[in-house]
Order: sequence, then C-alpha cells, then structure tokens
Amino acid sequence: MATSIASSPDAHALSVVKSGADIHDHSSLVPQTISVMSNSFVDHRSTIWNDLLSSQVALFAEAEFQHLENLPGWKEAHSVADIGCGNGDYIAHVANTFPEKSYVGFDTSDKLVSIARQKFDQDDIIFHCMDIQDASPHSLFDCAILRFVVQHLQNPLDFFGSLRKLIHPNGFVVIIEPNLEASSSTPELKNFNALIKAYEALAKNLGSTRAKLKDHNGLHQLIGNSWQISNVEQIHSTHCREGWNKTGVAQILNGWVNIIEASQYLAWDYSSLRMEIEDWLNSSGQQIDIALNATTLRAANH
Ligand SMILES: C[S@@+](CC[C@H](N)C(=O)[O-])C[C@H]1O[C@@H](n2cnc3c(N)ncnc32)[C@H](O)[C@@H]1O
Repeated sequence: MATSIASSPDAHALSVVKSGADIHDHSSLVPQTISVMSNSFVDHRSTIWNDLLSSQVALFAEAEFQHLENLPGWKEAHSVADIGCGNGDYIAHVANTFPEKSYVGFDTSDKLVSIARQKFDQDDIIFHCMDIQDASPHSLFDCAILRFVVQHLQNPLDFFGSLRKLIHPNGFVVIIEPNLEASSSTPELKNFNALIKAYEALAKNLGSTRAKLKDHNGLHQLIGNSWQISNVEQIHSTHCREGWNKTGVAQILNGWVNIIEASQYLAWDYSSLRMEIEDWLNSSGQQIDIALNATTLRAANH
C-alpha cells in the first residue's frame, strides 16, 4: 500500500504540494542487474558509503553546480527532491548554494537517512526513509535530482513511472552518473582502470541498468514513455597535484575499490591495487579527470 508523506512525521513536506496529478502506468521490467545497492548492503556498509559519498560531493560539487545553475528551469524551481539522497551531503550542499528553494531527500536506507538527519538538522531540508514508489502525493516537486542512483535501480521502468507522478507536469529530472570511459588519470592508474573495465564488462554481460546508461537508446529503455531526454551534457571534474584535495582524491579512488571489493563481484588482488593508488598519490605530476554525464528529462507530453 502507498505510504503518504502527509502521514509521516515530516508532514510539513506538504508545504510544497502543488495541484495537477498526472498518472502514467507502466508494465514492469525486471532486468538482471549488477547492483550493490540492496538495503542490507548499504546498511551494513554505511560507514564505507558515508565516506565515499562525502568525498564525491567535496570533489565534484563545484563542477556540478555550474551545470545546475545554467540548466533551464533550475532558477525557477521552488521545490527540489533528491531521490536516493544517501547521507544527505549532496542535497545539503545544494541547499547551501541555492538557499531560495525547499528540499526533500528520499532514501531507502535507514542507516544513511539517520546519518543525514544527524548531520543536517536544518529547516530547509527534510529527509524521508522511503522508496518513492511508495509515496502517494502527486506533482509535488518542480525538480528531482537522481545522482549516482539510476545505475543501481532494480526496476527502472516502475521507478520512473512513480517519479512521473511525483513531479509537476512542467517539472524536470536531473540524472547525474559517472562516465568512467570518458574519465582519465595521468600517469595512468593501470590496475585501477583494469578493475573498472572488468566491473563495467560484468555489468554489461548481466544486462544491468548501469550498462544501459551508456547510450541514448539504453537510457530510453530505462525511463519508459512518460519521460523524454531533453539534454545530455558531460561535466568534468579535474584535479591536478598543484593545489589538489589529495585526501578527497584518495578517498574516492579507495572508496570505489572498497565498494567493488565489498560487493564480492570480482576476485582481484585488491592490496596491489591499493598500493598502486598510494604510489600514484605520492608521485609527481598527477592529474585526474572524472567525467559525469548530466541528463535532463522532461515529461513526454510537455
Ligand atoms: C550511490 S548512492 C548516491 C547517494 C547520493 N545521491 C549522492 O550522490 O551522494 C545511491 C543511493 O540510492 C539509494 N536508493 C537506491 N534505490 C532507491 C530507491 N528506489 N528509492 C530511494 N533511494 C534509493 C540507495 O540507498 C543509496 O543511498
């Protein structure tokens, strides 16, 4: 049964309710997926996730916010949902940078939502531990952000059908996903790149959501007929040794290794991988460029 946000302890989330529901139903598609995102996985490893998510925000936010600022409709958007908000770092950073909006974070992991509530006890952000597929209010938000979430969805068509109900008909969705093929390191992190390649190949073989994000057609299959892709841009977050946030770069590289290792999908020599990262961080002249794909969706009939 659907859970109403109004009946949750955070009923004041309804202050951003707007009228005009638009219901689209989709038959479900359940692809075999490679996902490390089941609730128990996230909950049992919430410390690893918390560290990784925080460092990804610290490093990428500046480049991402430039993109948001220039996105048509962003300035006018009053109510923003961060779906799969994790530990809340991202939405809190967005709220501090764009304070004129109201924000609601949703995540299915109780552990990450309690971390988010503890870290960001502020009036302009509300956190719900909830799958949006169980949320009942319609047309609630002008904008939804899905950052590093779509790659993990188990049932994307149902998810995007539910999302359509949650977003105002003139609203939009911003999907941000890493594009590791367009990312690079100098000197090259060979062992690390080999791990990422193997992980991507495994995802592809399993027909995962992650693999489908790579191209326009693949993304279309995930979002269904109620959405259309209105814009795709690549964002680059580049860090070189001179003046870089070394701890942040180290946390991200090691964080990705930790998550892949903990997923137990790939047998690998993880200690030599960590040594490669350590040596790379301590040598000279390094540069790392992490590419993200930012895709905007709008309702198909608008
Ligand atoms: C990689 S984390 C990204 C967190 C955050 N967006 C960030 O960029 O820091 C993905 C999050 O999506 C959440 N998630 C996955 N499926 C979800 C769903 N159907 N509804 C809400 N949250 C979901 C997971 O619990 C996890 O915290």
